[in-house]
Amino acid sequence: MTSSPQLRPLGELLGTEALGIDLSRPLDEATFAWIGRVFAEHPVLVFRDQNLGAAELAAFGRRFGSPRMHALVKYRHAEYPEVSWLTNVEDDGKVDWYGVKRATDWHTDSTYEADPPILAILHAKEIPSSKGGTMFADMRAAYDALPKTMKDRLSTLVGLHGRSTGPAGEKLYGDDKGETEKVYHEMQRPAVIEHPVTGRPILFVNPMHTHGFIGMTREEAWPLIEELAEHATQDLFVYYHHWRVGDVLMWDELATMHRGAGDYRPDERRVMLRTIVYAH
Ligand code: SIN
Repeated sequence: MTSSPQLRPLGELLGTEALGIDLSRPLDEATFAWIGRVFAEHPVLVFRDQNLGAAELAAFGRRFGSPRMHALVKYRHAEYPEVSWLTNVEDDGKVDWYGVKRATDWHTDSTYEADPPILAILHAKEIPSSKGGTMFADMRAAYDALPKTMKDRLSTLVGLHGRSTGPAGEKLYGDDKGETEKVYHEMQRPAVIEHPVTGRPILFVNPMHTHGFIGMTREEAWPLIEELAEHATQDLFVYYHHWRVGDVLMWDELATMHRGAGDYRPDERRVMLRTIVYAH
């Protein structure tokens, strides 16, 4: 690293630009260590004006852990299956309506997997003429702002996670959840977790995959999941990322929830490369 990269805030709590890094070149150890340090405190990190192919995006992801093949077979990159397309365009150029609506409700990726991902990375290739952003909620700040009675209640609760079986998943997808190769089983996760680097408590309930809590009926659990989602996604905790072509944005899967804003014209192309990274 010749000169130190710089940070520039984009949002109040989340969204931070990392300036002076070219991700198309192999990262030296000092720059990689700097990114790791910064990312622990700034869980939505943006590198502008990049131009990466699938191989380079996978290589960047591999510095942090193991990028894995995406559950949705249809969207895997043909040569690098650990990279997938986030696209609203079918192969024949028509609108991909599943691609348009998928992921437009609040979620954390794959909390129904045995070892959920640690981070994910999107790289914008084509963006609509206006809007089409991605929104992120700060689940650390959301936890901090909960009343003490709710913190006490959550401290012993264990969430039940499934694939798109939470209130938002059912509303958004119904039975149409995309083709996968695996069958997923229910996972149990504490409602509050600690960030592995900073130790900060994180509200770890998301309305896409959390569909209940141990010892609670669905009638009790769903209103609580919805109340927590509403709390966490108030404007003060949310950052809206306005994409520019060339943006590489990485987010911490534990510290944030996210969603596609779903607010653009579907006939305008929105195409990104993505890789999702696991600890091992
Ligand atoms: C996602 O959940 O990874 C997609 C977000 C988006 O479409 O902006």
